[in-house]
Amino acid sequence: MKLDVVLGLQWGDEGKGKIVDVLAGNYPIVARFQGGPNAGHSLHFEGKSFVLRSIPSGIFRKDAVNIIGNGVVLDPITFRKESENIAATGVPVRERILISKKAHLILPTHRLLDAANEAAMGKGKIGSTLKGIGPTYTDKVSRNGLRVGDILTPDFRDRYAKLKDRHVRMLSQMQFECDPDAEEAEFFAAVEYLKEFMMIDCEYFINSQLKEKAILAEGAQGSMLDIDYGSYPFVTSSSTACAGACIGLGVPPSKIGHVYGIFKAYCTRVGSGPFPTELFDETGEKLRKIGNEFGAVTGRPRRCGWLDLVALKYAVMISGVSDLIMMKSDCLDSFETIKVCTSYRVDGKESATVPFDTFAKVEPVYTEFKGWNTDLTGCRSEEELPEEFRNYIAFMENYLEVPIRIISLGPDRDATIMR
Ligand code: IMO
Ligand code: MG
Repeated sequence: MKLDVVLGLQWGDEGKGKIVDVLAGNYPIVARFQGGPNAGHSLHFEGKSFVLRSIPSGIFRKDAVNIIGNGVVLDPITFRKESENIAATGVPVRERILISKKAHLILPTHRLLDAANEAAMGKGKIGSTLKGIGPTYTDKVSRNGLRVGDILTPDFRDRYAKLKDRHVRMLSQMQFECDPDAEEAEFFAAVEYLKEFMMIDCEYFINSQLKEKAILAEGAQGSMLDIDYGSYPFVTSSSTACAGACIGLGVPPSKIGHVYGIFKAYCTRVGSGPFPTELFDETGEKLRKIGNEFGAVTGRPRRCGWLDLVALKYAVMISGVSDLIMMKSDCLDSFETIKVCTSYRVDGKESATVPFDTFAKVEPVYTEFKGWNTDLTGCRSEEELPEEFRNYIAFMENYLEVPIRIISLGPDRDATIMR
């Protein structure tokens, strides 16, 4: 069987939680492969709402096994809160979650370092979610990190102390005022909680399960936040593209099946960095309001703009997207005119590629569509969709050269059209 992958193709917040929850009905196993509690995946069903941070979005599906893969960075404190919240609704979390021993641990001092780094950058800050993501991946790559499996070793406390000391030295060099001990007791209590979960050698487990079962990999963040291919340095610290699923779970590329790419019918970005189609006018304000574009993790208002097909096609290329999923087109229901960016003008020249220097003065060139001016939220089949909307979709499929398989017209599980 194959590993199918769900990826965000923009700057995150495309609606990955909803889609994974919808698709999870077809997969006995759902796995997160990168990122950490910087993610905020929202799920709505049966009148309830949840925001998931580190736990895969298959958690509410009976019989689905949810894996936190080795490419993920796990904060025991956040994980405990999230897991206890879900357990309180009657979900047997310990039976449904498996954690890779090779996933790296976020320490409280990683979060302090994140804050210190951002403070030191002043105006040039990344706009990080301050969950310790960058410093934890930095320790992983510089070979100083601690992993989930380490919590079972007798010298874990010593190794923790060594890493913490290193962080304390860095924090004092940066003259960052903080109390590195403040969350230590909570951290060790959360580590004890973590020990009650099943820990796996993810690569062996997944490859043996793939002999009989299809697995769904759930990406976090989005392609334009990828450490290599995003708008560097305004990116996250992991590989958010399809290849990241192979590394983050220990699965060979030949096992990848469908690559589902999710995008919103417009663009948002939270945090700093280039955003060619950003709107600073009342249209942007209207998108934010209708789309309720406020961060699920930080509550920050998201920057809003028109759909950027140049960036989207780039993301489709990097990950070999086979199936597109379009989210939130219902948020455009009341717009007279809808714009999509189909090329960039850089130094007077038009181009449909993402430039190396994403800070170059990129001016979006738009194609305009007549709005459909119809409430789409009640539509449950293709036939009910207005002609203007169908033209708009056909244009996108033609431009991106990939079919749009799923259209989501609202946050609920049921507001979904499969094509
Ligand atoms: P989901 O999975 C949107 C952004 C941050 C910041 C940059 C780096 O919900 O789509 P980090 O904390 O990773 O060091 O922040 O990346 N960012 C996200 N933006 N959705 C996310 O996740 C994000 N995770 C990180 O705002 O600009
Ligand atoms: Mg989010």
